[in-house]
Amino acid sequence: MQNKQLLLGISGGIAAYKTPDLVRRLREQGVTVRVVMTQGATQFITPLTLQAVSGHPPHLALLDAEAESAFGHIELARWADAVLIAPATAHCLAKLAHGLADDLLSTLCLATRAPLLVAPAMNQQMWQATATQANCRLLRERGVRFCEPTTGALACGETGPGRMAEVADIIAQLSTLWRAPVLARRRVLVTAGPTREDLDPVRFISNRSSGRMGYAVAQAAQEAGAEVVLVSGPVHLPTPTGVRRLDVYSAQDMFNAVQQQLVNADIFIATAAVADYRPAQTADEKIKKTAHSLPLALERTPDILAWVSAQSPAPFTVGFAAETQQVAEYAQDKLARKKLDLIAANQVGLPGQGFDSDYNALQLFWKGADEQLEQQSLALTDKLSLARRLIQQIAHLYAQKSPE
Ligand code: PMT
Repeated sequence: MQNKQLLLGISGGIAAYKTPDLVRRLREQGVTVRVVMTQGATQFITPLTLQAVSGHPPHLALLDAEAESAFGHIELARWADAVLIAPATAHCLAKLAHGLADDLLSTLCLATRAPLLVAPAMNQQMWQATATQANCRLLRERGVRFCEPTTGALACGETGPGRMAEVADIIAQLSTLWRAPVLARRRVLVTAGPTREDLDPVRFISNRSSGRMGYAVAQAAQEAGAEVVLVSGPVHLPTPTGVRRLDVYSAQDMFNAVQQQLVNADIFIATAAVADYRPAQTADEKIKKTAHSLPLALERTPDILAWVSAQSPAPFTVGFAAETQQVAEYAQDKLARKKLDLIAANQVGLPGQGFDSDYNALQLFWKGADEQLEQQSLALTDKLSLARRLIQQIAHLYAQKSPE
């Protein structure tokens, strides 16, 4: 954090009262902080307080001739190594999502190339509102980092998600933003989404995978400095910036693509929900509804993950395990049976996590020194935050296995 330059944006929420403490602690760690306050923020906390703790007068207005002559808003946007908005209100997030530039803070966010971290704080209903969640999704897709709000008693008297993250957690997230890219010069191959196994020209067998977990993993690996190839089953998601995407349809297509792309891959991460079985025969014409019942003969698809880990040399190989029961037990079995370096187990079949959800939780298992089983739990959070933690752990274990 030493010698880093942070632009702290404060928008108009009651959590603004925590920002002097945030500024003080950042300065203790060697960060230079300049503050931008929205008009709403000045209703909750005085600019003088922020001036006293940051050592600089806060910037308040876009069209302030005096401020522009000293340190113009474009200079400010260029100066920052990162922009942090804490608290970020629902209104502030909406403006960022839609690219509005009607005050100093929103204009700076458009004018800067620095990474942006937001710490939302608001009433729980406002946080869960479809519009707010859609804005957050858009911002995450564009690479904006989130310090997720926590759940508890809110200033409005309600209880729920919407409290600004603790100052210590915000600082911890900020430091990860400035960490050296842990996967620089590494090539990462990721599979994502479902596969489709055709029965006839109009019907197929598939599963509920939306691809969100795999796309988040690809984005997190790219952010960590890796060159990423994403082999994706049929999904409706935009390609993460900087990631090369190859679209496939069936398990066999995914297998073919992985076989081609594996050359020079340092790390393989199998997030896809690959069909385990496919129809033994695909009808050329639509199957007609003639009999009362229709027995389906299915055959196994190639196990892509097992094939990758059996290569010599094999890349650092990471599998996922989607289980509805005995999650840890089945995952450990897959870790051993498929000879993986790491397995990320998730409970599926529960509402609000796993398949087709924005959120997930993971339990990681790997073999440590002396073949001892090690584990780490990554708590329920949005899939991108989760993927970033997973990538940190993968990078750590990869570095141990393949020191430079
Ligand atoms: O896509 P989302 O909606 O975001 O949902 C995310 C997810 C639940 C799909 C994801 O987190 C997940 O768990 N992915 C793995 C799903 C799965 O197929 O699990 P499995 O336990 O059946 O397979 C074990 C591993 O073998 C997986 O890494 C899988 O990619 C791989 N596999 C399986 C079969 C096969 N023929 N080839 C494979 O490579």
